[in-house]
Amino acid sequence: MSRTPIRSALVLGSTSTVAIAICQALARQGCRRFHLIARNAIANQALAADLRDRYGAEVSLAQVDLLATNPLPPQLPEPFDLYLITAGSLGDAERARHQADEALAITHSNYTSLIPWLTAIVTPERIQKPGSLWVFSSVASDRGRPSNYHYGAAKAGLTRFCEGLLLRCHGTPFAVRILKAGFMATPMTVGKAPPLLCAKPETIARDLLRRPGRRGIEYIPWWWAPLMLVIRLLPPALASKL
Ligand SMILES: NC(=O)c1ccc[n+]([C@@H]2O[C@H](COP(=O)([O-])OP(=O)(O)OC[C@H]3O[C@@H](n4cnc5c(N)ncnc54)[C@H](OP(=O)(O)O)[C@@H]3O)[C@@H](O)[C@H]2O)c1
Repeated sequence: MSRTPIRSALVLGSTSTVAIAICQALARQGCRRFHLIARNAIANQALAADLRDRYGAEVSLAQVDLLATNPLPPQLPEPFDLYLITAGSLGDAERARHQADEALAITHSNYTSLIPWLTAIVTPERIQKPGSLWVFSSVASDRGRPSNYHYGAAKAGLTRFCEGLLLRCHGTPFAVRILKAGFMATPMTVGKAPPLLCAKPETIARDLLRRPGRRGIEYIPWWWAPLMLVIRLLPPALASKL
């Protein structure tokens, strides 16, 4: 497992609450180059200003809407030590049950729109040199549940796609890390998850940076692993209530 410090990071979905916490933790540990890609330009500029002012980081910005009809091809200005993908959206699960446009938007923002980015990052040349790709998937990918099966299916697709990348990079210095996150205290869970079960983004950031070179599929926090084992084994009569 590589212990090389992370000096540069490209973040797709940099205005996500957990991405902000990871960027700040990275900056505290000496990361001095960030390329921040997000839909919300104002929030992205605020993060950039913070990283420049407090840590003297060199920051470049790009605006991307993953649901754009004619998206520009991914632009990667230079090789980075860390590629972090946090963009994702729960969407409107209720509407997606009967309107295919919402079902497809959820699939696109969490999975298919990320494929061009993942393809641009994980090139034959890049994986010959040390580096990491961290992708935020979700525990929702483990079982199709009535309450959010569009999101869960999209994250399952993302997980399987990235597992292919992970195995393709086996034996190379490039580490792919798939993060099956449980509830985190971010705007995504407001009113949707019990606050007591929501991990703080700062805690998630700290835990991830404890093992920066880790590769594989992991649950965050770790205790979602046994919990999801139980949820996967629930009989339909119980799982249909989830
Ligand atoms: N919070 C949880 O409990 C939880 C649990 C499991 C997995 N996750 C995953 O963890 C990751 C981080 O989420 P978070 O909790 O930090 O939530 P968040 O604060 O709501 O962040 C979601 C990010 O995705 C971006 N995004 C959504 N749709 C986009 C689009 N069409 N184009 C570009 N960017 C788009 C958002 O940009 P805007 O700022 O422009 O909206 C925002 O930066 C996500 O992939 C999420 O699915 C979260």
